[in-house]
Amino acid sequence: MTWTASVLTLYPEMFPGPLGVSLAGRALQDGLWSLETVQIRDFATDRHRSVDDTPAGGGAGMVMRADVLAAAVDDMLERRPGVPMLAMTPRGRPLTQAMVRELAAGPGLSVLCGRFEGIDERLFEARPVVPVSIGDYVLSGGETAAMVLLDACVRLLPGVMGAPTSGEEESFEAGLLEYPHYTRPQEWEGRTIPEVLRSGDHAKIAAWRKARAVEDTRSRRPDLMERHWGAPRQPPSGERQDDEGELT
Ligand code: ADE
Repeated sequence: MTWTASVLTLYPEMFPGPLGVSLAGRALQDGLWSLETVQIRDFATDRHRSVDDTPAGGGAGMVMRADVLAAAVDDMLERRPGVPMLAMTPRGRPLTQAMVRELAAGPGLSVLCGRFEGIDERLFEARPVVPVSIGDYVLSGGETAAMVLLDACVRLLPGVMGAPTSGEEESFEAGLLEYPHYTRPQEWEGRTIPEVLRSGDHAKIAAWRKARAVEDTRSRRPDLMERHWGAPRQPPSGERQDDEGELT
């Protein structure tokens, strides 16, 4: 069976979008995965086909109705039993490469794209829907978040990436950021490629890459360092600290 993504959305026309080009798009064309969209509004029951209502307790915006979403979710669970059902929302658990790997190894996924101020919380209590966030910022809807999730999964599917090893050394696979990359020209604006990478000594190169992965993870992502490697460690003074501070 082909790995299949079912996207429940109010904006099916957003798909495949960027997933229709490059690596994921070629794989989609080649039948290495498949994509279907479901219009949530088709599960509305009233005359106006409404999918949202005002928030209980007051406040800005609208909330997606649990009854309409549950009808869409139930239909999907019945059509695709055993397929994980996720919902993209900034209130979800953070997406990780481990989750991506697990999802890519399965039959596919169903993903509900949140819109408006949010989703009626009772949906999560009453149905096996896992809320997932792609990061601590707020998008205008779950569709772009679903695209991020699908892109991360699709590139891991068998036959999608060119070299089968290219996924194994990359960022997060060992709980670290990946080592930095360089390519020709050997000198650019007075900057040279680290000499060790031109040495041809594969053991030395591997050791250098591991050291840089640890060093860069420590300076850029102390949270990752702590999670995977135990207690935070203060770098000795004079050690590289070039990646701290603002995104400029
Ligand atoms: N919808 C809006 N913001 C989101 C986020 N950060 N992750 C997942 N879905 C979202």
